[in-house]
Amino acid sequence: MQPLVDRYGRVATDLRVSLTDRCNLRCSYCMPAEGLDWMPGDDQLTDDEVVRLIAIAVGRLGVREVRFTGGEPLVRRGLVDIVRRTSALDPGVELSITTNGIGLARTAGALAEAGLDRVNVSLDTVRPDTFREITRRDRFDDVVAGLAAAEVAGLGPVKVNAVLLRGLNDDQAPELLRWCLDRGYQLRFIEQMPLDAQHGWSREGMVTADEIFDHLDREFTLSPASEPRGSAPAELFLVDGGPATVGVIASVTRPFCGDCDRVRLTADGQVRNCLFARQESDLRAALRAGASDEDLAGRWLVAMAGKAAGHGIDDPTFLQPDRPMSAIGG
Ligand code: 5AD
Ligand code: SF4
Repeated sequence: MQPLVDRYGRVATDLRVSLTDRCNLRCSYCMPAEGLDWMPGDDQLTDDEVVRLIAIAVGRLGVREVRFTGGEPLVRRGLVDIVRRTSALDPGVELSITTNGIGLARTAGALAEAGLDRVNVSLDTVRPDTFREITRRDRFDDVVAGLAAAEVAGLGPVKVNAVLLRGLNDDQAPELLRWCLDRGYQLRFIEQMPLDAQHGWSREGMVTADEIFDHLDREFTLSPASEPRGSAPAELFLVDGGPATVGVIASVTRPFCGDCDRVRLTADGQVRNCLFARQESDLRAALRAGASDEDLAGRWLVAMAGKAAGHGIDDPTFLQPDRPMSAIGG
């Protein structure tokens, strides 16, 4: 076993696999109303190719946790089968999915049965009209049904990810938290990052972690949860003395790059050592040219070694990556 270590000594054990760049929502902080030019089908790894690369990561490179992302991973036809085959790998891995929840009501049972452990559902508001405004689709009820089905299927603890947007839902943090507490979901707020396809992010537009605390403090008492943060990006707080918690992922104002344990694989088979990387390593070309598992593992190790120390959003020379979040995976 050769760990995916970089020149700063960080070891990547958490693999994020994007299964498609397509999505059935159009969140304004992610993509334009008309969508994007989706990846051509031939570019996308087949189910067999994805599973082979994951098997290499788990069997040879020390990956212990696999999370499927998108775009929206539930729109990938082979998802349940990919989950089943990943869950059969030896050694076993912690298996989860980040989804917008649409269609989860239908598939949660099958996913759990195939070996999925947990879900993270993205939900930025509990008001149907605000939901329509942010996502440009009228699907709030589908997400609510998906969350409930995930809980019933045993895919808990169910986590909810929320992004606050100035003028749209930044006044709704307490009601979102109340709604999640009532249902036993673990809510985490994520600072908006410069990863949108339209390049519309601005520092002034971003709702910061400090602002999120200010909003929550009006209705709740937050105290730091005792468990150490480790490599988890969320800072956890007890709500009104606990045991319920709320998380804040302050990727921009309190970066946690020094503790990063992630590595990403895009739907077209490129290894990305960071969300903000400006370079990728093409495993698909090597794989399709007949490379051995050993060769592919070697390329993966080289790709990770060059990981940058941090995302550099504060550098004057910062350039947003060419690919948007929907094509990298969250
Ligand atoms: N900044 C922060 N979070 C984002 N997400 C999508 N785009 C951004 C962004 N620019 C979130 C989604 C989802 C997860 C995959 O990342 O809301 O919860
Ligand atoms: Fe789809 Fe997620 Fe982007 Fe929203 S943020 S459009 S749910 S990929």
